[in-house]
Amino acid sequence: MTLGALDPARLQSLTDFAYIVAIACFILSLKWLSSPATARRGVLIGEIGAAVAVVTTFFNPELVRFQWVLIALLAGAIIGIPLGLVQMTAVPQRTAMSHAFGALAAAVIGIAEYYMRIPRIDKFEMVEIAAEVIIGSLSFTGSLIAAGKLQEWLPQRPIVYKGQNYVSFAVLGAAVLAALILVFHPTAPAVFPAMVVISLLFGVMLVTPIGGADMPTVIALLNSYVGLTAALLGFVLNSKVLVVAGALDGSSGFILAVIMCKAMNRSFTNVLFGAFGQLQVTARGAQEERTVHTATPEEAAAILAAANTVLVVPGYGMAVAQAQHKVRELLDVLTRKGVDVKFGIHPVAGRMPGHMNVLLAEADVPYDRLVEMDAANSEMPQTDVALVVGANDVTNPAAKTDQGSPIYGMPIIEVDHARTVMVIKRSLNPGFAGIDNPLYYEDKTLMLFGDAKAFVSNIVKELSGGGE
Ligand code: TAP
Repeated sequence: MTLGALDPARLQSLTDFAYIVAIACFILSLKWLSSPATARRGVLIGEIGAAVAVVTTFFNPELVRFQWVLIALLAGAIIGIPLGLVQMTAVPQRTAMSHAFGALAAAVIGIAEYYMRIPRIDKFEMVEIAAEVIIGSLSFTGSLIAAGKLQEWLPQRPIVYKGQNYVSFAVLGAAVLAALILVFHPTAPAVFPAMVVISLLFGVMLVTPIGGADMPTVIALLNSYVGLTAALLGFVLNSKVLVVAGALDGSSGFILAVIMCKAMNRSFTNVLFGAFGQLQVTARGAQEERTVHTATPEEAAAILAAANTVLVVPGYGMAVAQAQHKVRELLDVLTRKGVDVKFGIHPVAGRMPGHMNVLLAEADVPYDRLVEMDAANSEMPQTDVALVVGANDVTNPAAKTDQGSPIYGMPIIEVDHARTVMVIKRSLNPGFAGIDNPLYYEDKTLMLFGDAKAFVSNIVKELSGGGE
């Protein structure tokens, strides 16, 4: 039976029902993604929802020729499959690329709709299309710049100059002005292409002044822009599923960006206009005169074996060293020795949301071993050893004590309240915020200098060979 043979009214109610199923899947997906224990299920149901929505679209009676759709599907698969297979540490830039493609698709459809509808385009339609094309275009180039910075194809440092924010806002203003002209004169020559070009330029100008390390927050924000673009496109195309999916995408991306800013104690304006990442050399001079206590893997193993409770605090260095599997082995060997081992997860440890959860899940660390920051802090005074694996800023007590510190007010995992602290990192170099960490000079702190994977591996060897 051909699609055209179906009764149009019946086909319409069937497709409406299928779209509602897809929307329900998206909502469930977001719900399940909010906990590590259900996140895999969340991804699966989201994929099912997307598949239902795509397949249902094939039944749209306006779709009469499939060859171009199939070519687009093939092109998407050719680009998408290698993108899906990137290393875990490249996931932030991969996500930025996905946003770039999503934004490009939405912008291109908006452009096509404009040229198909003029000159009979009403003002309301023009507003929808202009807003959709502006946000889609700037999200496309902004996401490309974000991906380029994270992949280190572009300079990581914020590129700033005097009066930059004024210039950027003037460019955005020019795009909005072009949109206003189009609302009243939709066929005004060259205005529509000019609006597209200006919006593309603004995307570059929006992200270039932001430091590479702030890109995860920017990506979450661009995610919300792309969601907004999709929702606007839903209004343009009269597609309810696109409106709802775009709204869910946009609002969840925005909420994520807010959560990240809160966890870093930064405001949106500081992330977008603060050019963070220029502070790298602050307060470094102090560390030269101060002494630290160090320990070898053998000593660290002995301290861990003698503990009743150990809290591991992973950070960006664990991701860089890919030490998660060795950390899992450490959990196993200590558990066999009767030590109660838990993992304290800071919401912005690492460089992307859920970074530590993803790495520990990859190494099959049971979810019931993970505790969130507040719970970790309440257990800290009863913790014998806090073992920091490649984390720095998220454990820095200056966030609580030093009002002049750039991270003052950021919530931290208070490892300094544990009985003993051991920190695995390669040097006294600062982390993302570029500041010294007074934790390293405390009497109760032992610095375990070395690569996280190699050091944890040596501790595990020591514990395994040392007998039960
Ligand atoms: P950081 O403060 O960045 O510190 C990471 C530490 O890992 C460094 O001090 C580094 O010290 C060490 N390290 C690097 N490679 C290592 C290796 N191979 N072996 C052992 N150690 C290694 O990390 P954090 O504590 O996870 O904090 C995250 C920071 O990123 C916060 O400031 C947060 O605000 C920011 N941030 C996070 C996000 C998200 S969503 N997670 C987004 C934007 C910004 P050495 O060089 O001495 O080894």
